[in-house]
Amino acid sequence: MSTIEKSLEKLAAQQRERPTLTDPVAQHQETLKRPETRSPHIHTKSRTEIHHFPWNELRKHGILTRDTKRSQLAEEYRQIKRPLLMNIDKKGADIVDNANLILVTSALPREGKTFNAINLAMSIAMERDRTVLLIDGDVAKPTAAKRLGIQQEAGLLDLVDDSNTKINDVLVKTDLPNLRVLPSGRPHDRATELLASEKMARFMSEFSTRYPDRVVIFDSPPLLLASETAVLSSCVGQIVMVVAAEQTSRHTANEALALLDPDKIIGLLLNKYRPSLGNRSGSGYGYGYGYGYGHDHPSPDPDIAQTPQHPAA
Ligand SMILES: Nc1ncnc2c1ncn2[C@@H]1O[C@H](COP(=O)(O)OP(=O)(O)OP(=O)(O)O)[C@@H](O)[C@H]1O
Ligand SMILES: [Mg+2]
Repeated sequence: MSTIEKSLEKLAAQQRERPTLTDPVAQHQETLKRPETRSPHIHTKSRTEIHHFPWNELRKHGILTRDTKRSQLAEEYRQIKRPLLMNIDKKGADIVDNANLILVTSALPREGKTFNAINLAMSIAMERDRTVLLIDGDVAKPTAAKRLGIQQEAGLLDLVDDSNTKINDVLVKTDLPNLRVLPSGRPHDRATELLASEKMARFMSEFSTRYPDRVVIFDSPPLLLASETAVLSSCVGQIVMVVAAEQTSRHTANEALALLDPDKIIGLLLNKYRPSLGNRSGSGYGYGYGYGYGHDHPSPDPDIAQTPQHPAA
């Protein structure tokens, strides 16, 4: 049994002992039971207001900032984003529709979707000629916008639910001029249905065609716990599947991959990788990344290139 599988077994044993606290399915369902708190009025910032990122805080949490542009972290994301951007520019191996729509997902919770979605968005937005829209698509457990210090609640769900709400009413402009953020929106009792709706699919297609130069990055719920993620994945061109090393078994990762449309470009990003499991002195994480194509159903193990542990976070 591999170390990853042993860790997963240990985790599963812990979950059996404390099912109400640690069972990801129970947690996910609990989150969906949030009460209906919507009011007909959305409170948004004025259209000219700009959100200032708490750069020092972000840096402390391992988020790429303007000062860390030359760091190892930055270099890792440069390598992760390169194939994604090449596919958008149609210079990659495969050509897909909506290549500028990128879904970041994982099989299970806590694998690092939001962390990587934010860092990818930052990294791409720091390029001079790219505009990025980061969408918090994890409507049951929205964290992307909050982690960036954004208080505004109105966002994606309001846009999909109410035809009077316009994208500019809910889009958050930031002090990284090339990056805009769309929060998940105010809690809604049919949030997951809205995410998997026809209307959402139309929005996705509009995001792609109206702003073909814009890279749209969707943070999303875990594939194996939320069926709407697979529906969302059918609307994007590229999927970054985050796999947490020592946490997720190959079997689990493959189960999640099987839910994705094989015609999409699917990249695997091995997260929280530590080159030497025996070396516990560092506190940081590292990345591995590898890009494969959906038709081959890439196995997360053999094809993933791995980068050394980085000191941030
Ligand atoms: N490579 C990394 N380096 C440092 N910290 C990381 C890394 N990946 C994830 N983390 C941290 O691990 C925690 C879980 O990550 P994150 O919230 O991104 O996971 P998630 O898959 O979005 O979880 P959820 O399914 O609950 O939304 C966060 O505190 C995040 O900051
Ligand atoms: Mg998340």
